[in-house]
Amino acid sequence: MKKIYLLGATGSIGQQTIEIIRANPYDFVLAGISGFNNFELVKKLAKEFEPEIVAVKTVEEAQILMSEFRNMRVVYGEKGLEDLAGYHPYHDIVLVNALVGMVGLKPTLKAIETNRTILLANKETLVVGGHLIREKLKTSRAKIYPIDSEHNALWQALNGEDINAVKRLIITASGGAFRDKSRSELETVSLEEALNHPNWSMGAKITIDSATMINKGFEIIEAAYLFDIDIDRIDTIMHRESIIHSMVEFNDGSIIAQIADHDMRLPISYALNYPLRKESIANKFDLIRLNDLHFEEIDINRYPCLAYAKEAYHIGGSMRTVLNAANEMAVELFIEKRISFLEIERIIKKEMSNHQVIDFPSLEQIYEIDQEIKTRINQEY
Ligand SMILES: NC(=O)c1ccc[n+]([C@@H]2O[C@H](COP(=O)([O-])OP(=O)(O)OC[C@H]3O[C@@H](n4cnc5c(N)ncnc54)[C@H](OP(=O)(O)O)[C@@H]3O)[C@@H](O)[C@H]2O)c1
Repeated sequence: MKKIYLLGATGSIGQQTIEIIRANPYDFVLAGISGFNNFELVKKLAKEFEPEIVAVKTVEEAQILMSEFRNMRVVYGEKGLEDLAGYHPYHDIVLVNALVGMVGLKPTLKAIETNRTILLANKETLVVGGHLIREKLKTSRAKIYPIDSEHNALWQALNGEDINAVKRLIITASGGAFRDKSRSELETVSLEEALNHPNWSMGAKITIDSATMINKGFEIIEAAYLFDIDIDRIDTIMHRESIIHSMVEFNDGSIIAQIADHDMRLPISYALNYPLRKESIANKFDLIRLNDLHFEEIDINRYPCLAYAKEAYHIGGSMRTVLNAANEMAVELFIEKRISFLEIERIIKKEMSNHQVIDFPSLEQIYEIDQEIKTRINQEY
């Protein structure tokens, strides 16, 4: 029986993780959960699973829960996420990080300190703090298993092979909601259109990140850290159907691909059960559909955010914080309908052009830069 502590239990990845836990009560127990704005769902989950620890947004919500569930540890705020990540420091505990945004970084570092097996969906953590995570892992027994579908596919395709035997990793991209629109049409697209992803049903931020393609840029950076491979050996290819989730091309010319329906419950199940492969509740793929798969080169001029992500990776250091902070704030403004879709990329470009890079930023410097950028953008628009 694995004990699962789940950051972001109320979100898209969090809810799909819970579906798997519900379907496999002899394999998993949900021992910790966090929510943020959706307090009603946190209360429901607390009642259903009676976890050991619950993290909520505010002290007032924590007090309500404490009065209702007397045997439960209730924590709150950003510090509460770290408390949950480091709760009961035994090494055989699984932490699923399904938070969205940079808020996932400190809890990930805490989970590494406490030697957890970390199932990571929260890609922003690696974009911003990949260098800190890499350092901390050197003195920890913690392991990171990717549940982002592309990285989970690469993990499965690599299957323990030496990374030096790899010619390149090939990450597939659906192209997002606007893959068939011209640049001039993008000037007037709406929030509702941006949220209408052709293949996946996901949280709002990643759906918009897919439409701008910065998501693919984040995934390249994520893959570079996860598999310890140079970014120049990671390619992206447009694959509209999202059936091949990624591929590894080896030096001998073999390409190994992972094929499955687009259903996040498969990569989550794989990581939860690893090293076993068990029956999963994910939709199964009909091989006949392989007749109708398409692949195209990605035109980088069409998706400048993908180019900015690669540039931020190459420049390194605090530029990755700038990329992420500017994107997080710009996406928030777009969701609040305060800016247009194309202003997202313009804001990122402007912030990156004005930044003085710090080569190996500390956690404190990352938080300072993040706050400074978000405040400036928020005031300007
Ligand atoms: N969804 C997918 O299919 C998918 C696929 C691959 C990778 N990912 C990655 O997985 C991560 C989660 O994505 P998602 O789609 O599940 O996002 P989501 O549906 O928006 O869920 C995000 C979760 O984080 C919580 N949260 C948001 N802001 C927070 C804050 N400031 N402090 C504490 N908790 C906060 C939310 O709580 P409330 O809902 O209670 O506010 C929710 O539980 C992202 O990094 C995304 O890129 C997602």
